[in-house]
Amino acid sequence: MERLPGFRDFYPEPLPANETWSCDLRQHIFARWRETARRYGFREFDGPPLEPLELYTNKSGTEIVAQLFNFTDKGGREVSLRPEMTPTVARMVAHAERAYKKPIKWFSIPQLFRYEKQQKGRLREHFQLNCDLFGETDAAADAEVLALLIDTLRALGLTAADFVIRLSSRQAWQGFFADRQGDPARAYEFYQVVDKLEREKEDVSRERLAALGIDLAAVNSFIAASEPTPELAAVLANLSARGLRDFVQVDYGVIRGLAYYTGVVFEAFDRKGEFRAIAGGGRYDNLVHLVSGGKVNLPALGFGMGDVVLAELMKARGLVPKSFHPVDLVVLVEDETLRSESLGLVQRLRDAGRAVDYGLTPAKGDRQFRRALELGAERIVRLERDPAGALIAWVKVLADRSERRMPLEEVVAACGG
Ligand code: HAM
Repeated sequence: MERLPGFRDFYPEPLPANETWSCDLRQHIFARWRETARRYGFREFDGPPLEPLELYTNKSGTEIVAQLFNFTDKGGREVSLRPEMTPTVARMVAHAERAYKKPIKWFSIPQLFRYEKQQKGRLREHFQLNCDLFGETDAAADAEVLALLIDTLRALGLTAADFVIRLSSRQAWQGFFADRQGDPARAYEFYQVVDKLEREKEDVSRERLAALGIDLAAVNSFIAASEPTPELAAVLANLSARGLRDFVQVDYGVIRGLAYYTGVVFEAFDRKGEFRAIAGGGRYDNLVHLVSGGKVNLPALGFGMGDVVLAELMKARGLVPKSFHPVDLVVLVEDETLRSESLGLVQRLRDAGRAVDYGLTPAKGDRQFRRALELGAERIVRLERDPAGALIAWVKVLADRSERRMPLEEVVAACGG
């Protein structure tokens, strides 16, 4: 049986085949994501992987709706696997916002599903860090979310030489469209043409814009100027104060495909332009209102960062940890008459918080030693009886092969970590 196209198997290292994904690398990424969100005071939440289809139709925009993994369940409900987390978090916040002080700062690491054409950097499932902030309209909130995005990538070893955040504004584009008497009911249609400019043939874009009464040359010069709005200027000043200005560049070539964005929007890309977007986000001040059927009104903004492009970029920049250490110690059982004593030691070391492995059944010493190397253990411990019958332990540090002899009672303290 093969797995479905666009889905991944995650194996522990060392990986058995090229097309498999590393569960160790995934944990490394998730750990950095969680640590960084914690440093910014974001709290973790989660929601259901299956949602009513209606949560997405008319809210996320045509592109995502065309990619839904949806079906009718056995109770006759129209449902969909979640393609993104934003409608879910908007729904959850709308239900519970009274229980929390504002601003609400939440993060989550959901697995998301989109029935996309499989290609480099795009699969049918991915994990996505989502960080969202509710209840603040000031540009200070936009800057805080951008700083968190930057620091998340820095925590994985990426620098300003590796990535850039292209910062833009739906409001700037809204102004551009209104100045040219664009029909407000067709604004989203216009944004979608701008969103596809970099990928679409010039003639196709020119025609689509003309149908909206807009001139392609005017669009191009608006992008070339990318004159920051007062709101973007405030965001940039805030990031400068933190020393993070180099990570951001105003670029009206970005507008974002999703329908719900209302203000600042942004996307993170690798500087060399080899990969698809690493992350994307922005302000969506009307979504909570929409999802709650008009009951709750809360401004909001946030971003999503996928694990697929990120892992590809980390591999290309040599930022994947060389080795993963599943265990700290291996207890060798070379003398089977000491198995009970060895098991007692394994248990005491585990009680002390160490990750410990040992051979479940009798095996030659060199085989046990090779397994300790494969598991990346820092140390091996083996027990022996001295001529007087007392139990002693040998603790070997594998990095330099140095070995120390000690009474059994001292092992836990010596290897306590
Ligand atoms: P998005 O731009 O659709 O935004 O996705 C964010 C990131 O998720 C992308 O930049 C990409 O790295 C990753 N991603 C998306 N689709 C795929 C895929 N099929 N395969 C692999 N990676 C993918 C959103 O989803 C918004 N809901 C983000 C957001 C949160 N906005 C505000 N809060």
